Amino acid sequence: MADLDDLREGSRFGIGTEVANQTFHVKGAGNLPWGMKDRLSRIFNPKSGKSVMLAFDHGFIMGPTSGLERIDLNIVPLIEYADCIMCARGILQSTVPPTFNKPICLRADAGSTILTELNDNVIIDIEDALRMNVSAMAVMLAIGDPVMEARTVANLYKAVDNGAKYGIPVMGVTAVGKDMARDSRYFGLASRVAAENGANIVKTYYCDGFENVVAACPVPVVIAGGKKLPELEALELCYKAINDGAAGVDMGRNVFQSEKPVAMIQAVHAVVHDGLTPQQGLEMFNDL
Ligand code: R5P
Repeated sequence: MADLDDLREGSRFGIGTEVANQTFHVKGAGNLPWGMKDRLSRIFNPKSGKSVMLAFDHGFIMGPTSGLERIDLNIVPLIEYADCIMCARGILQSTVPPTFNKPICLRADAGSTILTELNDNVIIDIEDALRMNVSAMAVMLAIGDPVMEARTVANLYKAVDNGAKYGIPVMGVTAVGKDMARDSRYFGLASRVAAENGANIVKTYYCDGFENVVAACPVPVVIAGGKKLPELEALELCYKAINDGAAGVDMGRNVFQSEKPVAMIQAVHAVVHDGLTPQQGLEMFNDL
């Protein structure tokens, strides 16, 4: 029985004040259910609309590549500066402390390694993703690959079905096969295919004409960093992508292979969220 002593009448009904219409800051997500929006809001800052995702999933196909030899030593100190982390479940569960409370974009497909051609891929059991409390699942799409295109589109489709049941967004990751062009026509097609098949976020690469890739994609586009560049060039990449409409970066090597990764991720964060120019970002990097 509820305690009825001192039961006070309500008086603050705000009569005369309209209920404010709520808008949602993530592109293409206005009609999604609450759980999806909550997870997307953990990834994309509601003030800037942007995200700096720290990608360190490379080991799931490449093994202990440079900068990822010891996740505990090289990556864990960076996590506090990221808006979201992207990794595979084995590293998450074995090495990432659960006390960070950062949103996780889980690498949710697996199959091939760099030792073979892309040959098969499966997706994670959605219940395992739920157990890890992930905020998004990342699934690769090999558009244009004669063997793997259909397989990876089916994977994305299934991941979107699974995610929809529990309110977990899916990020479509556009692959770069050795026979695939790296231009806005290819990335535009692959990004749009990802979104049309239900991806809530698309990760692709920056290229000339990137503004067309973003314009034709109905959901947020984040860019991968690609191979390690000098810091100023990496910051220029971030700046140009944001200027062309990207909703953020999902960056790995240009952060963790930097001589000063902690300074680099903060400079990237400032360019993405605060509009620093690449030169200002470099000054910040040098100061830090
Ligand atoms: C791509 O599928 C990989 O999983 C990486 O997450 C991605 O390429 C981002 O890392 P990087 O900035 O090193 O390219």
